Amino acid sequence: MTSADIRKVSILGRDSIHCGFHLIPYIVRTVLDTLPSSTYVLFTDTNVGNLHLPLFESEFDAGIDALKSQIRPRFITYVIPPGETSKSRECKAEIEDFLLLNKCTRDTVLLAVGGGVIGDLIGFVAATFMRGVRFVQIPTTLLAMVDSSVGGKTAIDTPHGKNLIGAFWQPEYIFIDAAFLETLPAREFSNGMAEVIKTAAIWNEDEFSALESRFSEIFAAIQTPSKDYSGRTQGTRSSAQELLLSVIVGSISVKAHIVTIDERETGLRNLVNFGHTIGHAIEAVLTPTILHGECVSIGMILEAEVARSLGALSQVGVGRLTRCLKAYNLPVSLSDPKIANLPAARSLTVERLLDIMKVDKKNSGPQKKIVILSRIGATYEQKATVVADTVISRTLSEAVKIIPGIPSKSPIHMATPGSKSISNRALLLAALGKGTCRLKNLLHSDDTQVMMNALMELKGAKFSWEDGGETLVVEGGSGTLSVPAKGKEIYLGNAGTAARFLTTVCTLVQSSETDERTVITGNARMKQRPIGPLVDALRENGSSVNYLESQGCLPLSIAPAGLRGSTIKLAASVSSQYVSSILLCAPYAQEQVTLELVGGQVISQPYIDMTIAMMKTFGITVIRQTDSETQKPLDAYMIPKGHYVNPTDYHIESDASSATYPLAIAAITGTEVTIANIGSGSLQGDARFAKEVLEPMGCEVIQTETETTVRGPPIGTLKALGHVDMEPMTDAFLTASVLAAVAVSPPLPGRELSDAKHITTTRIVGIANQRVKECNRIRAMIDQLAKFGVETRELEDGLEVYGKDMRELKEGASVHCYDDHRVAMAFSVLGAVVKETVLEEKRCVEKTWPNWWDDLENKIGLRIEGVELAEVSVVASPSGGEAPQALASVVIIGMRGSGKTFIGELAASVLEWSFVDADVAFEAKHKIGVREFVHQHDWPAFRTAETEILGELLATYPVGHIISLGGGIVETPAARELLKTYAKKGPVVHIVREIDEVVKYLGEETARPAYGELVIDVFRRREPWFKECCNYEFVNYTGVLTGSVTSPDSVRREVTRFFGHISGKQPNLVPNLANGQRSYFLSLTYPDITPALPYMEELTTGADAIELRVDLLRSPYARQLYTFPPPSGRLGVEYIDLEISWPKNQLENLVTRKGFSQIIASWHDWSGSLQWTSKQAEDLYRSARDIGDIVKIVGKANRLEDNLELYEFVSRMSASPNAKPIIAINMGLEGQMSRILNKTLSPITHPLLPSKAAPGQLSFTQIQTALHLIGQLPAKNFYLFGTPIAQSMSPTLHNTAFQTLGLPHKYDLLETTAVGDEIKAVISSPNFGGASVTIPFKLDIIPLLDSLSPHAKAIGAVNTIIPQKMLDGTVVLYGDNTDWLGIRNCILSRLPSSTRNPAAGLVIGAGGTSRAAIYALKSLGVRIVYLYNRTRASAETLVSAFPDVDIRIVEELGSWTIAPSVVVSTVPASATTTEASATGALYISEAIFAKQSEGVVVDMAYRPAVTPLLGLADATAKGWKTVRGLDVLLEQGYVQFNLWTGRQCPRRAVAEVVEKAYAKN
Ligand SMILES: NC(=O)c1ccc[n+]([C@@H]2O[C@H](COP(=O)([O-])OP(=O)(O)OC[C@H]3O[C@@H](n4cnc5c(N)ncnc54)[C@H](O)[C@@H]3O)[C@@H](O)[C@H]2O)c1
Repeated sequence: MTSADIRKVSILGRDSIHCGFHLIPYIVRTVLDTLPSSTYVLFTDTNVGNLHLPLFESEFDAGIDALKSQIRPRFITYVIPPGETSKSRECKAEIEDFLLLNKCTRDTVLLAVGGGVIGDLIGFVAATFMRGVRFVQIPTTLLAMVDSSVGGKTAIDTPHGKNLIGAFWQPEYIFIDAAFLETLPAREFSNGMAEVIKTAAIWNEDEFSALESRFSEIFAAIQTPSKDYSGRTQGTRSSAQELLLSVIVGSISVKAHIVTIDERETGLRNLVNFGHTIGHAIEAVLTPTILHGECVSIGMILEAEVARSLGALSQVGVGRLTRCLKAYNLPVSLSDPKIANLPAARSLTVERLLDIMKVDKKNSGPQKKIVILSRIGATYEQKATVVADTVISRTLSEAVKIIPGIPSKSPIHMATPGSKSISNRALLLAALGKGTCRLKNLLHSDDTQVMMNALMELKGAKFSWEDGGETLVVEGGSGTLSVPAKGKEIYLGNAGTAARFLTTVCTLVQSSETDERTVITGNARMKQRPIGPLVDALRENGSSVNYLESQGCLPLSIAPAGLRGSTIKLAASVSSQYVSSILLCAPYAQEQVTLELVGGQVISQPYIDMTIAMMKTFGITVIRQTDSETQKPLDAYMIPKGHYVNPTDYHIESDASSATYPLAIAAITGTEVTIANIGSGSLQGDARFAKEVLEPMGCEVIQTETETTVRGPPIGTLKALGHVDMEPMTDAFLTASVLAAVAVSPPLPGRELSDAKHITTTRIVGIANQRVKECNRIRAMIDQLAKFGVETRELEDGLEVYGKDMRELKEGASVHCYDDHRVAMAFSVLGAVVKETVLEEKRCVEKTWPNWWDDLENKIGLRIEGVELAEVSVVASPSGGEAPQALASVVIIGMRGSGKTFIGELAASVLEWSFVDADVAFEAKHKIGVREFVHQHDWPAFRTAETEILGELLATYPVGHIISLGGGIVETPAARELLKTYAKKGPVVHIVREIDEVVKYLGEETARPAYGELVIDVFRRREPWFKECCNYEFVNYTGVLTGSVTSPDSVRREVTRFFGHISGKQPNLVPNLANGQRSYFLSLTYPDITPALPYMEELTTGADAIELRVDLLRSPYARQLYTFPPPSGRLGVEYIDLEISWPKNQLENLVTRKGFSQIIASWHDWSGSLQWTSKQAEDLYRSARDIGDIVKIVGKANRLEDNLELYEFVSRMSASPNAKPIIAINMGLEGQMSRILNKTLSPITHPLLPSKAAPGQLSFTQIQTALHLIGQLPAKNFYLFGTPIAQSMSPTLHNTAFQTLGLPHKYDLLETTAVGDEIKAVISSPNFGGASVTIPFKLDIIPLLDSLSPHAKAIGAVNTIIPQKMLDGTVVLYGDNTDWLGIRNCILSRLPSSTRNPAAGLVIGAGGTSRAAIYALKSLGVRIVYLYNRTRASAETLVSAFPDVDIRIVEELGSWTIAPSVVVSTVPASATTTEASATGALYISEAIFAKQSEGVVVDMAYRPAVTPLLGLADATAKGWKTVRGLDVLLEQGYVQFNLWTGRQCPRRAVAEVVEKAYAKN
């Protein structure tokens, strides 16, 4: 048998850890030889088993065969499902039963082959089976190899938490076979690397340096499968394998050492918990989505930051740790998109994390303990250190607050981090130079790291760290460079400077024998950034540079042919980095280089000068050529051939832009700050800030060649600057702006502005480029300064700031930082003097000054506190918009001819608001019409005037108005801005109408000036502007769809819904939600819903809402309507269903723009693994609750019990604090029960639909039937009280409706002579569902009722009784009146669209029903009600009953002030006549209709169908619509039904049956 080379590690005094490659034969042999037993049981999980079990089996078989002993031992295997859920009591019990069943005895040896799950579980089984049996760990994940298998900790999980039950039980052997890692998924490998890095970080800097610099080799060792068991023996082991093994062995050795000293974790062993205090808390929230090592990785960074803020660890340490973890693809912050986008991440509040940390095993009492690093490779104490909650909370918080005060460390002497530009140049120069150079103050950033890695790959230099990483020692390679190892590409991430510099560096590589080329590549973004001009120049010079993907971008393949040199022509108008790249490499060209810059204006000359200056320090003097005549410098440089000679030390200049912040703090607080490393000799433009900005503001500035000291004037006396051109130091303008904000003294003489708005004006110019930096910095300063109450003005190339007494600045500003380090640091300066200033995104400083907040506290002496931004305020961040203002006026825009006036007036009428037409306002102001105005002046003048009017209207009518604007209002940017600003708080509605119709309509209209161009062209131009300015769209489809959709009634209904909703006057939300009743929505999740439109009524039976999947809609009509994601329900949709797994920013964006719509925050568990009993489900609920108004969680049922668990979950969540309505269902057939039990907005289907939107979906009727059968919907009895009622249509009406909806109720007649015992008995029965009351009991019933609706009170009659269940379970009887609504609705749906509010109405008769009629007319806005009755006395009673209605009794029909357009007769048909001469009946004449060509006439009498009044109308009033008593009965019945059941009555089905029955009788 082949032998294996093993490296052994000792633990607890025994060499029991054996490490190597391809060890299975070795393991089996060792186990059989040294652990004799009657039974060997191998445990693994299915993943590992499928890959590796066969070899174990064959080896054991062979090994057992070869045993000499007489009794053959047994070899048994047991495979469990993979994953954490197997680490359970249940699984342990199953295994124990298996062992017992197989008669395993105390001599049994258990082998755990797998990851930590198998190791922990089997270890614990071994610890307790027969009071402990021997076991062997054969870890197959890296985590298990370096961590869980070593140390003897074994455990299982319980629902109360992980690893809560277990034992210390040491394995006999731990076999580390690194070849297992070849099959391990990459993410699992990285997961283990977190532990490896952790161990090196606390213990061994050398180990850490190896991990830091050799990550690509380490990955290579597991990525390429080893053939023929290579690695098993030393001779066949590759160097990558050797490295991997030594990394693993190194890590294990540290752990083994610590365990040996402190087996039971009392002190030293705590150290291995570095990163775990915070990491575990994160894991508790994010598990199982995020792996243990990933959480620990973030935990390490946060704990390192804690160490940094305590002053124990320098930023160098934090930076190294961060980059190292990143190199192994581990997350390093909670804002990593992989984490931030998880729904559960929203539960990662500081409070929650601190709470979880309370129960850490390391804590002493309430005090939390964290392992504090003092540098890479060492800890502050030999155990975890107690850390105050405030420190942890500050580190965890996303935002900070500065406590204003005088910096306690003044006079301050400090350095700022190294400049990035100088760091990159210095690295390259030292690497190309001869000799050793110690670089100090190097900036630790991604860019510099990438540069170092690349130079190492090119074997151009050697790097090592000194002083705990403060100094980088570079051993220069004198320009000798080689092609990287075969197949190795140089990966540059998104490091722009490195990519540009290295492109030329790669041409310097000397020829290799193998003909290999150097390949440099980067991430996706890098592959888009330009490199073309540089490549062109190099190619023209003879270098062979090929693009491997896109032309002009990385990746590049470069031949190792050296740089030829001589004249190189370069286009330098895009980037000065191309110039620096060639300059830096030029000395190593074969011929002396003359670099000529061509192609227009050279960009960023200061950076070219910086390169040349630094080259000089390294011994090469570049000569810039001059014009021989004018002596002016030319864009041509001569670079002598030669070698850089490395200075022994090179001190990298501090970043001059960064230096402006501490200096500004000195200025604003009247204290003193000295910045080392930046002085008059500085290479950076921003070094001039002290002299050119701070000095004229009144500061004392002393600048030596290498140092700058600033002493501020007495606090509150800074001088404004007047005019200042900051072109040479653009980045520093933000610092200048915040100082200018509190500069209250006038500028120095000579600096004043003649045209200044205020004496304290600072006008900063020359900074236009700052609009395209990390954010639009000019805008950012203006917006954020405004939060402090500071006024500013934007200029074309800068801004003006008007200084204000700092005591008058607004406190408590929450500064949005736009992820821009400079914004955050600049506003920190203001935070030093203005109370409660919050900087919202503290981490954005990481780009250039990662420890800014710590330095502010530790080096400057200002106290910093962590601030947890409330989730809501994050969601409603200032960039998002403000909450909608209820009842804000609605602005209407749209093409001329789109129906703005029509829709606007209708909206005004339904909202009972005033309508304002901008054209009318224009005429009123200018005394001439629009057409005339344009004629007299011109279009631009008109547009200006129009914009002015817009401003005036918005200011004059902020609430309660509909403001309709001219079609061209969007033509000017100023007006568009006004509209867009308004849309942040109020609705701007774009009326959309098909352009063909608009064209047709405009052909007939002449009131406005003609377009002078094609309407279609105007349409195309304005359409995008309308869209840009509006926040809602109302689609005015006038002729497109079927008649029913465009009937005046449907338009009115839609206008009522839409404007009621968006204005907030009557948000159209599902009432059953509020009542805690059951509610349903119909899933119309089809690409085309047009075929469904005619059946809408049937389809929506029982439904409270309809769900449209806008992402699915396919028809062109639909596409025109919707974009996806829906722009915050532009169409006024009531509920918006958002997946909480969407990117956070998208969610926030939508949530802030939801207006009066509600958000359903939903989570679909597509994996089907969500357990309703799990913490994950609770976390999901909480995340969704924080975003939405309604929570929706969809899981999948595999068994009936899953539905019971769901039910229990919903009950629990609904009882929790801040509960929100929850939609919770299980998908699949097994989940049907959950659809029945769900209360809130259950999705339903309908038999008429072609297919179900989801498997398991039920119809409304099915659900009701099921609910009834399981006792959740008891049958109720309903009645009609009255006499005579035998002919009543009400039973037909209601019973049809019950049946259609699948409700188990019944409606009967109860005819009695009086309201007596019979009625009293039914209304007090527990089965009483409700009753209709008719003549003659509408008044008599009132004393039996507990309360009345306001309508019933006003009318003085009750026709509906509703038993209402109170919270305490008692039932009260509520009386309402739906007669008036029946009348009102019948009139409203027949009113001509031109009649928005009928001015006058006529009521015939003065009996009980006429009260409802008058009340209905009043509700329609009718101003004059004529009352026509035979007896005047009863008419007068009515007049006094409605004191607020203008009721005029008429003796004779036709004598009106305003002719009525609505007529309601309430007298029996038999009591009316159309014969003038007839007596005993009320005379009805044509005079009723004579003066109005259109109107609605209602006859409340049921029979005959055509009463004398309706007959007269049919015969003489063609434009009048008639309403039969039966129509009113139906209409009031629908309302009644709704009041009883909470459901919409199925109108069409009911009407059909009732009409038939009526016709029969
Ligand atoms: N006892 C301790 O001191 C200690 C320390 C740290 C972690 N733990 C425990 O360890 C567990 C996590 O261990 P883990 O990360 O190894 O998880 P794991 O055991 O679940 O393994 C991770 C995944 O990788 C698969 N896998 C394992 N080896 C493989 C291979 N060679 N090729 C292909 N697939 C392979 C597994 O089937 C599984 O799907 C947790 O339960 C944790 O509590 C214990």
